[in-house]
Amino acid sequence: MILEPPEKVSQQQITLDVREIEPLLQAPSMDIKPWPGALINLKDGRRMYIREARLDEAPAMMQYMKRVMETDHDFYDIVGARVYAELMGWYRKRLKDPYVLVGLIDGVWAGFANGRLLNEDINISLHTMALLRGGRIGAIMYYTKAYYAFEILGNKEWWATYESYNGWHRWGVGMAQPSYPWPEYQHELGGARVYYVTKKYWDKVVKNYARQMVGSELIFDNIPAEIVEINEEMRVPEEVVV
Ligand SMILES: CC(C)(COP(=O)(O)OP(=O)(O)OC[C@H]1O[C@@H](n2cnc3c(N)ncnc32)[C@H](O)[C@@H]1OP(=O)(O)O)[C@@H](O)C(=O)NCCC(=O)NCCS
Repeated sequence: MILEPPEKVSQQQITLDVREIEPLLQAPSMDIKPWPGALINLKDGRRMYIREARLDEAPAMMQYMKRVMETDHDFYDIVGARVYAELMGWYRKRLKDPYVLVGLIDGVWAGFANGRLLNEDINISLHTMALLRGGRIGAIMYYTKAYYAFEILGNKEWWATYESYNGWHRWGVGMAQPSYPWPEYQHELGGARVYYVTKKYWDKVVKNYARQMVGSELIFDNIPAEIVEINEEMRVPEEVVV
């Protein structure tokens, strides 16, 4: 928009350095505690290591997600497209306080879970994905990010929603999550219902979820050095096998 100035000005033009614009577009970080890395034993004996994804891994993850979003069953298409956008938002610093967790088996990317912090109290779950089916990898990844929210970040509420039947079944039903009145409350993923878990409900019920679903728990201590080492570099799977 242009308006004539109501006063004589000595400079008709003011030039901005884009670095002056960036702080207005990029949300300042809350500097959240990092996810420490954890190991879990799958039902079939394989061991999955769950660590934070590194920003330099985002391009390869996005390339792979482009292929996943071509899969038109079980809602992998919409979830893949949205995960692509969230990875880009993280990579280009256009998401407020995002976190991205990856599950790796012998260095190969097998599971994905991300979210972001609305504020100190509310953790917004974005997406969870199993890139290998049948190992309850998605169940573990979702549990892991809820664990991160309540046990490490000290959040008070978890807000989720579901695009797929598998997701709704795994966690909406699997964790018996109540939902807030709709449409008064809407999740940022398309305005769908907000399903939630409070800290009290987590402590009382949901904390047992992994033990019930996969018969094991997240292991944080004494993780063998070779496990950490083999999962240091993430390889995306060669094929989309979901
Ligand atoms: C939702 C999701 C993360 C759950 O992952 P998961 O817990 O690892 O579970 P899977 O999807 O592998 O399997 C779910 C069920 O489907 C069945 N199934 C479907 N395809 C299967 C396959 N190829 N091999 C084995 N089981 C399969 C199994 O019965 C399994 O149930 P069970 O473990 O109780 O036997 C995963 O289905 C997924 O990534 N879906 C697409 C993205 C998505 O919907 N994300 C959630 C958004 S709300």
